[in-house]
Amino acid sequence: MAFGKNLAFFLAAAGVALFAIVFLPSFDPFWSSWRKGRQVAEMVVLNATIYTSDASLPFAEAMAVRDGRILRLGDYSTIQDLIGDGTHKLNYNGNVVLPGFIDSHVHLILGGLQLMRVQLGGIRNKEDFLAKVKEAVKEKTPGQWLLGGGWNIDLWGGDYPEASWLDDISPQNPVWLSRMDRHMGVANSLALKISGIRRDTPDPAGGIILKNSDGEPNGLLVDSAMELVLNTIPEESLEERREALFVASRHALTRGVTTVVDMGRFFTAASVEDSWLDLSEVYQWADSLGKMMIRVCLFFPMPTWSRLTELIRDMGHRLSEWIHVGGVKDFADGSLGSNSALLHEAYEDNPINYGIQIVDFDWLSNATLHSDMSGLQVAIHAIGDKANDMVLDMYSSVVSINGMRDRRFRIEHAQHLLPSTAPRFGQEMVIPSVQPDHMLDDAATAEKKLGIKRAHQGPYMFQSLLDGGARLAFGSDWPVTDINPLKAIKTAIYRKPPGFEHAWIPTERISLDDALKAHTISAAYACFLDQELGSLSPGKFADFVVLPANSWTEFAENPSNFVSATFVNGKQAYP
Ligand SMILES: *[C@@H]1O[C@H](CO)[C@@H](O)[C@H](O)[C@H]1NC(C)=O
Ligand SMILES: *[C@@H]1O[C@H](CO)[C@@H](O)[C@H](O)[C@H]1NC(C)=O
Repeated sequence: MAFGKNLAFFLAAAGVALFAIVFLPSFDPFWSSWRKGRQVAEMVVLNATIYTSDASLPFAEAMAVRDGRILRLGDYSTIQDLIGDGTHKLNYNGNVVLPGFIDSHVHLILGGLQLMRVQLGGIRNKEDFLAKVKEAVKEKTPGQWLLGGGWNIDLWGGDYPEASWLDDISPQNPVWLSRMDRHMGVANSLALKISGIRRDTPDPAGGIILKNSDGEPNGLLVDSAMELVLNTIPEESLEERREALFVASRHALTRGVTTVVDMGRFFTAASVEDSWLDLSEVYQWADSLGKMMIRVCLFFPMPTWSRLTELIRDMGHRLSEWIHVGGVKDFADGSLGSNSALLHEAYEDNPINYGIQIVDFDWLSNATLHSDMSGLQVAIHAIGDKANDMVLDMYSSVVSINGMRDRRFRIEHAQHLLPSTAPRFGQEMVIPSVQPDHMLDDAATAEKKLGIKRAHQGPYMFQSLLDGGARLAFGSDWPVTDINPLKAIKTAIYRKPPGFEHAWIPTERISLDDALKAHTISAAYACFLDQELGSLSPGKFADFVVLPANSWTEFAENPSNFVSATFVNGKQAYP
């Protein structure tokens, strides 16, 4: 009996299995191709020079894509069976294809807003500076703020703009124009008045109100002193911020950037809320309408670490395929351009200045400890050699208290290092998140500020960082410098700032391969997205760029500054 019962059960089970194999698949076109033994690609890239950033297959000539992800790569014969009647074929005749670039450090909405404002980047004399502002004033109604930025005095020989430059051309509109690094800015007299800045206003902690020889504020404000003005500027409207996201995303796509790590709008204590507002009112709003064009990984101000911990506990890191929640960010010092990067030895041109420690270090250490304990990734801005040492020391003490784990601590900028500091990044597994194009702006004044010896030893030690085993992540810090990975890659391999006959610290030049990895797979690693992005590998998102170069040799000999097409999710997003 027992045997008969088992046999009946066996026959019934076999019947169900047979039905499932023979009939069920025909309900679905995917299963029907599976039944025929093959899967069909939506799109294939053919005859391309595909650089994958994936060590298991560094180059390929064909790539098959389905549902926004990569199915397979190889030569034509490897993917041939994936081509069906409906497969869209892109024949690239040898053109170079790269993974979509990841920019490890941007302020995306600010970048968009800046494209919508007076742009003073690249201006080379006072006349052009004033002409540009004058033109913008015409567009404003009296009383409206005139905002802009991007100026760099090194381009016109060193005179700082002052309120007196602006008062005649803008008597009725308050003006605020930030320096390219946003650690300094100039206000006109009306803006100073509205902000309550007078001759007796004391310097706030972590900032400076510069004065003229009569002791009157001259309009220039450094670091936290900028808050006095920034706090009185009315917020941009929500509509403007949303528009800025679209403007910024379109601009990024023209440069081949398909993912950014957005450090938000956290420049002053007062702006802590902005990143959170942008998350719900701009990013999630755009996502809910299907309007996201590039992927974002968002970092939030460290003072809000517990709020971020709760968000991740409730929703996870991945809010959608477009929005990824990263970690927390804070500041250790200012910038070299504004003489506020924290150095071990004084500035060459100002022997009493060692730079500025922006955030109280005890607070920073404690907040880092607790953020890390909650599982958050921590990124801290450090530019000067002393600031970098302090943050590395702090990170290592947090590791010794909280224990080993895959935490990927980051230092944003890691710009000026003591020679003995560079190897620590690799040893201590701290990610240097660096911006090669900053060197184009710093080079002209580095000797003046740091002295000959330091200027030829510490800045942008990319090869030393790699030699020490660090995973180098590249970014732009847009809008501080323009977002343009191909230009940054070129800067990192040649290190030739304008006017330089030879490379600036030639031993720190890196290879094209290392530079490409720093803007793709290592950048993905640096924000915990390397399982999904950063290389052209089966299963990952089909985000890639096509270059005008027709062969690898052509590209390697003269890397172009622009891309001819950008794809996100296997769909052409630019042009
Ligand atoms: C391009 O790919 C096709 C297959 O689609 C192949 O037949 C052809 O020979 C290739 N052309 C070149 C120039 O390699
Ligand atoms: C450190 O941070 C924790 C968590 O925010 C807080 O409870 C504690 O009071 C802080 N300790 C110090 C010394 O500030």
